[in-house]
Amino acid sequence: MGIGGDRGDSSAVRSPARLASASLRAMDSEELQERIGAFASWDYLFEFNGGVRTPARDRGRVNRHAQRRNHFFEPLLALFGGTLQGRRVLDLGCSAGFWALAAIDAGAEFVLGLDLSLEHLEQAELVFAAKHVDPARYRFEQADVLAHEIREEFDVVLCLGLLDHIPKPVELFERMAATGAEALVVDTAISRSRASIFEVSRLYKAADVPGDGLVLIPSRAAMADLARRVDMRCVPLALNVTHWAGMQDYRRRRRLAFICARTLHLEGLAREPAPSTLPWWVKDPRALTSV
Ligand SMILES: C[S@@+](CC[C@H](N)C(=O)[O-])C[C@H]1O[C@@H](n2cnc3c(N)ncnc32)[C@H](O)[C@@H]1O
Repeated sequence: MGIGGDRGDSSAVRSPARLASASLRAMDSEELQERIGAFASWDYLFEFNGGVRTPARDRGRVNRHAQRRNHFFEPLLALFGGTLQGRRVLDLGCSAGFWALAAIDAGAEFVLGLDLSLEHLEQAELVFAAKHVDPARYRFEQADVLAHEIREEFDVVLCLGLLDHIPKPVELFERMAATGAEALVVDTAISRSRASIFEVSRLYKAADVPGDGLVLIPSRAAMADLARRVDMRCVPLALNVTHWAGMQDYRRRRRLAFICARTLHLEGLAREPAPSTLPWWVKDPRALTSV
């Protein structure tokens, strides 16, 4: 379990203003809807009492997060016996707190969410206050995950849509492992190469991140090597997609989630079937027999 109470390197950390959930409780649905509307956009659909909801950007995005839940969050819960009861969860690149809230709903004792974007963190604070989550169970901080010293211990680290936003994957894995976590959940863009490599890529919105936006995208084999380096095993998770809207990158096998663990038994997790070893240009493998 974690050591709690330690707020880490305060010089590198800013927290969004904490909204008193008591004052929100007093707030009527109209006021909450107004606060939601004050943000330029929302990437997630959140629903609150009284029919209040965040404006969903499009149906594909809503479906994407529902499918991602099936892809990596349900397997995470299965690994922990169906509940995160009593677990401490670190959510790196937490954005508006969608997965942090999923962890709280699954029983997590405490969630720390880190993100660079103060606007995303203010959304997370609003969501958690409007959902009346006990403030002792969470904290959101503005921090660069590659610069912020994480001094607390965690049972689970969520690294969702973040590894492909940073230039130092080896360092990120070391930082995640140093939290003592039993399990890391990593959802990332991936290279389709069969070798253990990183593809050099550039972020579409480089202005939002430190540095020049150059990032390293791991292949599946590179993910296994990153995990091995911190004494973990790594399972590429099966995609149980029921609807592909908003899931093009997963469908093209350019994104996948992995669960890495030191001692937990990963054998029960449904794995992604091994990708074909045929070159991409071979449409009909029978054609090869005549070569
Ligand atoms: C693609 S979003 C993923 C959000 C969420 N984890 C998910 O998977 O639904 C990436 C998030 O990581 C944050 N981010 C990017 N680079 C970061 C860094 N170096 N440190 C902390 N947060 C970062 C961005 O602000 C953004 O909220």
